[in-house]
Amino acid sequence: MLVRRELSEDVEAVRSVVAAAFAVQAPPDAPADSAPVEVALVDALRRSPEWLPALSLVAEEDDRIIGYVVCSRAWVGADEVLGLGPLAVLPDAQGAGIGTALMNAALDVADALDERLVVLLGHTDYYPRFGFLPAADLGITPPVDAWAQHLQARPMRAYHPEIRGAFRYAQPFNDV
Ligand SMILES: CC(C)(COP(=O)(O)OP(=O)(O)OC[C@H]1O[C@@H](n2cnc3c(N)ncnc32)[C@H](O)[C@@H]1OP(=O)(O)O)[C@@H](O)C(=O)NCCC(=O)NCCS
Repeated sequence: MLVRRELSEDVEAVRSVVAAAFAVQAPPDAPADSAPVEVALVDALRRSPEWLPALSLVAEEDDRIIGYVVCSRAWVGADEVLGLGPLAVLPDAQGAGIGTALMNAALDVADALDERLVVLLGHTDYYPRFGFLPAADLGITPPVDAWAQHLQARPMRAYHPEIRGAFRYAQPFNDV
């Protein structure tokens, strides 16, 4: 299994991976033929000024895209940080370390690019293993109070504690 940058010819396969991974979590009242919102989110991010091509990564195995992760430009107060997500692994490939490999690769690239902080909204059982802390511990507040419990942040090598204040994702997160 190889983790590498997304290429233009991967876009359709990335859509399929994101659709399959998040379909499992779709609310019971969602129409059967509707794509999960995360598919439109990734498409909108790709068209947005907050898109960072070096941080759109696929996991490939036997010439098949089986996982995907993206980080886009985000902010804490006036400071530039990264917003991580979506992270997606094909259901039949889950539980085999693909998500871990994608997360580690994204964090390695972020560190190599001198990014200072990676922020995400996610499960508190999963992300602490990658060094994520409750964002509140770093003085970072969510845009929506209801997110407070799941907002997590991962300080990178270039982090400094003056990065505090209100977190804001790339604009497409507000539009989907
Ligand atoms: C979350 C996800 C990317 C993990 O990918 P994966 O390849 O299965 O992950 P790994 O094999 O590296 O790690 C498996 C571990 O993740 C845990 N895990 C998987 N999904 C989880 C979730 N939603 N919440 C908490 N833990 C989760 C598993 O329990 C397992 O834990 P263990 O190592 O303690 O046994 C994948 O399950 C997925 O695509 N889920 C649907 C989309 C999603 O929820 N994305 C994340 C939110 S943006």
